[in-house]
Amino acid sequence: MEHTKTLAHISCEDVFKIYKVADLEVVALRGLDLEVERGEIVAIVGASGSGKSTLLNILAGYDLPSAGKVSVLGRDLLSMNSAEVEKYRRTEVGFIWQQTGRNMFPYLTAIENVELPMMLIGEVSAKRRQRAEELLELVGLSDRMSHAQDKLSGGEQQRVAIAISLANNPPLLLADEPTGELDDATANEVMQVFESVNKELRTTILIVSHDQDIAYKVDRVVLIRDGKLSTEIIRYKSDKQESQTETAGDSTELEEFVLVDGSGRVQVPKPLLDHLKIGRRAKIRIDNNGVILEPGDADK
Ligand SMILES: Nc1ncnc2c1ncn2[C@@H]1O[C@H](COP(=O)(O)OP(=O)(O)O)[C@@H](O)[C@H]1O
Ligand SMILES: [Mg+2]
Repeated sequence: MEHTKTLAHISCEDVFKIYKVADLEVVALRGLDLEVERGEIVAIVGASGSGKSTLLNILAGYDLPSAGKVSVLGRDLLSMNSAEVEKYRRTEVGFIWQQTGRNMFPYLTAIENVELPMMLIGEVSAKRRQRAEELLELVGLSDRMSHAQDKLSGGEQQRVAIAISLANNPPLLLADEPTGELDDATANEVMQVFESVNKELRTTILIVSHDQDIAYKVDRVVLIRDGKLSTEIIRYKSDKQESQTETAGDSTELEEFVLVDGSGRVQVPKPLLDHLKIGRRAKIRIDNNGVILEPGDADK
């Protein structure tokens, strides 16, 4: 794989973001590394305050990192001028907010909302209407096109949001807790819309969530802890026929990995450290099968 490495869609290398509030510094991202391939759906899962929105805002061109490298389809986001950033936001990336109300203008109908981003880049009227219809059909809202926001449920509003974000055919969608305000069943439906968008349009999709159950719905989940990615969970569709243990439908196996960053650092999950009674110092040794981490003497 190393030899035939193709251009990643998203590449973050040792990204830091420090917010300065009065005399205080908040480190929201601390050395984050992330690669997302073209056409992937990836979820980033982490507790509130772990840096998820900070990362998405940087990838959307709304904010700049304090240090590190960020590139999207090989373009360095830090070196774009304001006109390039503007164009990037309009055509290269679609964004979906958690707050359903933030994604659309309340006084416009669903179809008018989807047409709006196309108007901003000067698309002609007939084309706008046709594409907006196609997109609303794709998200399953053919029968809600002329509804305004107050006539749409939360789930329907998020579907409109997905259609709006796709208006100018961006190769990348970023969604910040898109199902955070929805009940489980509706959240599932919205996740299925993301899946079908990914399949139909081959859009790369990065979804942020605080709900680890999303791991069962996308192929790859990365856990973010204190501004750094720590663990990755890969979902396999297994085709084993273990008839006794499995119910109907496809079976899913999750495999969990610890991430090793460019400096060889790994984050050991806190519960594991507590369980092993590892404090500030640990002993590391090599065993036949790998590396063993044990409490240092002083911690025993
Ligand atoms: N504009 C800001 N100014 C100061 N601190 C911020 C700002 N935005 C986020 N933070 C802080 O950065 C950290 C990460 O925040 P955020 O990226 O919003 O996390 P999440 O989306 O995972 O909840 C938090 O400690 C938060 O308080
Ligand atoms: Mg957030």
